[in-house]
This record gives sequence, structure tokens and C-alpha cells, in this order.
Amino acid sequence: MKIGVPKEVKRGERRVAIIPETVKRLAAKGITVAVEGGAGAAAWFSDEEYRSAGATVEPSADPVLGVADLVVKIHPPTQAEVERVRPGTAVISLLYPQVNADLVRLLAAKSVAAIAVDQIPRTTLAQTMDVLSSQSTVAGYRAVILAAQALPKFFPMLMTAAGTVAPARVLVLGAGVAGLQAIAVARRLGAIVEAFDVRREVKEQIESLGARFVETGATEDAAGAGGYARELSEETERRNRDVIAEHLAKTDVCITTALIPGKRAPILITEEMVRRMRAGSVLVDLAAEQGGNCVLTEPGTTVTRHDVTILGPLDLPSDLAVHASQMYSRNMEKLLLHLTRDGVLVLDFEDEITRGCVVTHGGQIVQPRPKERPAAGGGT
Ligand code: NAI
Repeated sequence: MKIGVPKEVKRGERRVAIIPETVKRLAAKGITVAVEGGAGAAAWFSDEEYRSAGATVEPSADPVLGVADLVVKIHPPTQAEVERVRPGTAVISLLYPQVNADLVRLLAAKSVAAIAVDQIPRTTLAQTMDVLSSQSTVAGYRAVILAAQALPKFFPMLMTAAGTVAPARVLVLGAGVAGLQAIAVARRLGAIVEAFDVRREVKEQIESLGARFVETGATEDAAGAGGYARELSEETERRNRDVIAEHLAKTDVCITTALIPGKRAPILITEEMVRRMRAGSVLVDLAAEQGGNCVLTEPGTTVTRHDVTILGPLDLPSDLAVHASQMYSRNMEKLLLHLTRDGVLVLDFEDEITRGCVVTHGGQIVQPRPKERPAAGGGT
């Protein structure tokens, strides 16, 4: 089987779906790779490294898409890309089928098997293939670095000849993959960290990272299916917000990551809450792409409101292109080895992972149980 890796065409994207290390490992399993020249350049993987790993490097996307039995990408294929892949082949990428219905129809009409990595079930077995988790890990780390850069204060406590400097206080709202990573990084930088999540099961994880869980006194637990949250009653939301507002007023940095699958991001921070924050404090809203957890967030940009710097970054994994590509590529290796037998793609619909992520097959749209994810790609 031959895999094709075109250069990502989304503007500003620096990641590449398969790195040379993976090319070598796949070759050992009888899977060869054709890559578009320069596909890895923005993530510092040269054509020479791909060649040394055993890939063929093509001068443009056309021969890559035209020769591949399976195309591996990060972002959903464009219409132009779909037109160039051969009928009867397959594409693996982020797809978000709920919002890309036309693209799904196009892939089905062309008899291309579409494998959506955003639909991989969040189970223990699938963890090594879960790109949403690996890329959110990058986002959580990066959010803290951005916050530290924007904050006019130190993160750690310092005892110097010029006196003692108090450590920064960080509040993380939403302790899923991105939030837990943000907690860990902020702790490593020496901040005092508090965190809140509507799923009580993460209290222990928050505490194991050396942060304090914010108790709001609410008894309603929002733990939903597959490790995701479901919506809370209005009463509980208000109660949570009141307690969070008190903590927010004493914090230097707030990082929000709250997400309800398939819905607009929940509003956790109102304008009044921002008004009560300390002058010079920083808010990084990772949910910007799903509308933001703060009402004042402007997706894709940084604004200052009521003396608070509010960042709404969209493409954080691309900022860390080397490691984000490495993690994505390793996820792809595991997924490919799961979906192939003797180097050939075999889609076994008895298998939970296959059932979860195959969206079109044999000219049909087969997505049986759309695992609900947010409408937008979360910058992933
Ligand atoms: P996740 O599903 O693992 O975590 C989201 C967490 O939010 C869950 O633990 C959930 O219980 C919690 N939550 C839901 N409603 C809440 C509420 N009202 N209050 C407090 N907590 C609440 O998601 P993951 O993978 O950690 O992603 C987090 C966010 O970061 C998502 O919005 C994702 O799209 C975004 N993201 C942004 C990127 C960027 O470049 N800006 C890159 C990657 C992810």
C-alpha cells in the first residue's frame, strides 16, 4: 500500500501529518510513502530526511494524490484535493462530518473511504491514536507560555536582594486534556494553581498535579458519555459562576478550556467578571474557535478590556509544529497499524475504532454514530 502525504494547504498551517521517523516504521510493515516536496519544511523536516527514511518525494501534490492508495492529512481535504484522489482509495484526516456534510457527500460520491480522526472514540485502546488529545496537550502547554509572555509579572516566587516576589496565581477552567496540561506547566513555572471542572471525577487529577480544586458547592455532576461533559442546569451554572467570579478577582492568569461536545462553548466569564479582575491580568481562551468561554474574547486576536489582556488563539498546535507533527504522526502510525493487515487497509466494522471513525465507505455515507465534537476544529 502506498500512502500519500501532501503539503497542508490551510493558510498558516506548519504541521505535517507524517514525519520521517514514521515513514521508516511504516516501511518495515510494507507501507510505502510518497510525500510532496516541502511538506515538512515548515516543521523543519527536510525532503532529504524523508528520502533517507525511504519516502519518494514528489515535486507537487498531483502525483502524491494521484498515486496514493491512502492519503494522510491533518485538515479536511479541499474539494480540489478530493478531485485529484483516485476513486476506491481512502483519506485519513480531521473531517468534522457534522459540519462538513458537502465534503462527506463528495467523498462518498467518489467512492473514497473517509476516515475522520476527530471521530476516534476516546477509549483506553484508542488513546495512542487520539489526535484531539495529542494536539490539545500542545495547546494546553502553549496557552501557559502565551500567558507568561503577556503577564507583566513573574510566575515563580523569587527571593532576591530586591525583596521577595510573590508567585503568580493561575486559574484553569475546564480540566480535560488541555486544562490538565496547562495546570502541569503552570505549576512547573512556579505558579499557585487552582482549577475547576464540572466533572467531579477530575478533582483527583487536578490535585495530583499540585493544584487546588475550586469547590462551588454544586452537587450536580456533568460527567457525560466518553469522558465529555454535558450541559448543566441554569441554577448550577449560576452558582458555579458566582464562586468562579470570586476566585477570578484574585487571579493573575485565567486559562479557559471548557467544551461541551456539539455545542457552542459554555460562557463561564461575563463582562462583569472581567471588570472585577486585577489590572494587568491575562485571560487565554482556548475555546475561542467554538465561540469562547469569555464573552469578550475575539477569536484569533488579542484584545485589552477593562485592563485585562484577553487572548483568543486559534492555531496553537501549529505554533509548536515540530512536536505537534511528531505526536500527530505517531497517532497516525498507530491508527494505520490498527486499520491494516499485511500492509493492506482492511476496514472491519465489528471493530469499535473503525466503526467510530469511518465516515464513508463503498460509495455510501456509513457514519453510524457521529461522536459529537464541537462544530469547529478547535484549532486542532
Ligand atoms: P476536553 O473535552 O478534554 O476538555 C474540556 C473540559 O471542559 C472537560 O473536562 C469538561 O468537563 C470541561 N467543561 C465543560 N463545561 C464546563 C464548564 N461549564 N465549566 C468548567 N469546565 C467545563 O477538551 P480538550 O481536548 O482539553 O480541549 C479543550 C479546548 O481547547 C476545546 O475547546 C478545544 O477545541 C480547544 N483547543 C484549542 C486549540 C487552539 O489552538 N486554540 C487547540 C486544541 C484544542
